[in-house]
Amino acid sequence: MPSNILIVGASGTVGSEIVRVLKAAGHSVRTTTSKPTTAPDQVHVNLATGEGLDAAFAGIDRAFFLSPGGHADQYKILAPLIAKAKAANLKKVVLMTAAGVEMNPEGPMRKAEIDLENSGVPYNIIRPTWFMQNFNTFWVYGIKEFGAIRLPAGDGQVGFIDSRDISAVAAKLLTEDALSGKTITLTGPALMTHADVAAEISKVAGKTVTYSDVDPAELKGVLLGAGLPADYVELLLMLMTYVKAGYSASLSTGVQDVLGRAPGSFQTYAQDFKASWV
Ligand SMILES: NC(=O)c1ccc[n+]([C@@H]2O[C@H](COP(=O)([O-])OP(=O)(O)OC[C@H]3O[C@@H](n4cnc5c(N)ncnc54)[C@H](OP(=O)(O)O)[C@@H]3O)[C@@H](O)[C@H]2O)c1
Repeated sequence: MPSNILIVGASGTVGSEIVRVLKAAGHSVRTTTSKPTTAPDQVHVNLATGEGLDAAFAGIDRAFFLSPGGHADQYKILAPLIAKAKAANLKKVVLMTAAGVEMNPEGPMRKAEIDLENSGVPYNIIRPTWFMQNFNTFWVYGIKEFGAIRLPAGDGQVGFIDSRDISAVAAKLLTEDALSGKTITLTGPALMTHADVAAEISKVAGKTVTYSDVDPAELKGVLLGAGLPADYVELLLMLMTYVKAGYSASLSTGVQDVLGRAPGSFQTYAQDFKASWV
């Protein structure tokens, strides 16, 4: 069977689950990786340089695009993908950006959205808020080792979303055209502070996890120490100030609208990922 749905970022949090869902439904998928390929349906692509893009798009009908974490100028990553989608006359592109990008028309993610909107390619844009899965990835070390979430997020509320719902939405939009042309903000079902998150993780992890609102300089040191690029660290710190200021305190009906069911709860996520924290 030919591979006709291209998934960029296919080994990441969202992309890997899109691939699983599409394959389970019998669709054929081509995946990109920046690493050496290990399977026939993979293609080596370096999104930072454009290397491998021509081969990635050959014979493709539909595609999912994201900008991998770590890149502050997401337009530089996404614009060549959108140009290729246009040149290849794709039947559909699903682009994942982030909730709130519409607030800054000059921002790199919004610029990429505008390129896609103007491309003539049938599309959906999905804008998820903060992922629940950050607590078993980015912030897992502090929770596991010290029972601590230390972020400069104050008591700002977030409608954390289970990334598995993002993937399910993306898979549906990739394969069905009824909602084409829509931009959809995706959140979970409830607004929670990081203190609420710590309390929920405590319930399932068998230990007390606390949340502390810390000076941004502390997170900056941690992220730079982990090797993240300085411009990406500044972006994350800015996003945290938005959380603290309350800009992430809203819920959307996006998951319900696309999937016809409510988004997954933090409690379900925590049960499913509790092994991460012990
Ligand atoms: N985390 C959140 O709370 C949140 C909230 C809203 C929006 N977002 C957005 O979500 C996106 C990240 O999604 P994600 O977490 O699912 O993805 P991810 O895990 O950051 O990255 C996906 C994959 O991209 C590949 N990759 C990295 N650099 C590459 C390169 N130079 N060329 C080709 N491939 C490369 C990697 O796979 P290989 O190792 O196989 O190459 C990686 O596993 C970002 O755009 C972020 O802004 C995140």
